[in-house]
Amino acid sequence: MRESKYMLETPISYRKDYGQFFTPSSIAHLMAQWVIQDDPETVLDPAFGLGVFYDKTIKTNSSQHLQFTGYEIDENILAYLNYDENKANLTIINSDYLEADIGPFDGIICNPPYMRFQKFLKRHDVLPKLERQIGKKLVGYSNIASVFLVKALNELNVNGSLAFIMPFAFFNTGYGKGIKKSLLENHLLKQIIIFSNEKDIFPDATTTVCVLLCKKDGKEGCIKITQIKADDEINKVSNISDFYQRKINSSDLPYNKKWTPIILSIFTEQEIPDGFCKLSLYGAFTRGIATGANDFFR
Ligand SMILES: C[S@@+](CC[C@H](N)C(=O)[O-])C[C@H]1O[C@@H](n2cnc3c(N)ncnc32)[C@H](O)[C@@H]1O
Repeated sequence: MRESKYMLETPISYRKDYGQFFTPSSIAHLMAQWVIQDDPETVLDPAFGLGVFYDKTIKTNSSQHLQFTGYEIDENILAYLNYDENKANLTIINSDYLEADIGPFDGIICNPPYMRFQKFLKRHDVLPKLERQIGKKLVGYSNIASVFLVKALNELNVNGSLAFIMPFAFFNTGYGKGIKKSLLENHLLKQIIIFSNEKDIFPDATTTVCVLLCKKDGKEGCIKITQIKADDEINKVSNISDFYQRKINSSDLPYNKKWTPIILSIFTEQEIPDGFCKLSLYGAFTRGIATGANDFFR
């Protein structure tokens, strides 16, 4: 595979500098399913790498009219693509996505580079332009992945679908609040996928990640939460939007609270059977005298 050859021949320090960590094929397939659900004509991958999303999108969608655009800043990685045929449905742009003035697209699919924004040397030129494009101040954004997300959401067509891998920690950060607010207020966020045995599924990732599935349909509704436990479970999923364990009201995900504990608690809490409720609904319980050897409660 292209990934193994590339990783073998490229020092880890180089890959880190560009945030080059690859999406496992099974996850890319799920994300592609989401993005092509409405038969898009244009799909963007802002961080193309070795093109796993292009491969999956084209394989999953038989449509002749789909045009796929990939942005990739590193010309070295592109040299590994060696596509054997001329791909009429693919345009690869070897340039910085954050500087691009593009869109809108019907579908956007991305595993953005994760690196501290402070390490991104051109940030002083890029940020003001980006802020003008999206009409918002991007204050305190410490990870480049979130800047990719904000820009991509802005480039998504009405009714378009977006699938994005994000560091799970982004749900708890200060700068994440504004993004979460916008995801909820605009009814963009439809499903969150988390992974319980992440190292098995993402052996290459340096941070805990999740997948966000969004759709710009303006429709209000619950947010589906999916927990994936193993790689072989993924292969059985025929439609990712039907595969979830819980639905959560957007009002139960306040934008100004940390989301990680809220989402994780869903999977540690027992499901309440119909006709039952929590005792805490009726009152609080405090512990009485603790005597140690307590015959009364035997
Ligand atoms: C996390 S990798 C994802 C690669 C591939 N899409 C995948 O999912 O396996 C991110 C890719 O984005 C590229 N990249 C980093 N900064 C970029 C930028 N500012 N504009 C475009 N591409 C960038 C990296 O070189 C790397 O190939």
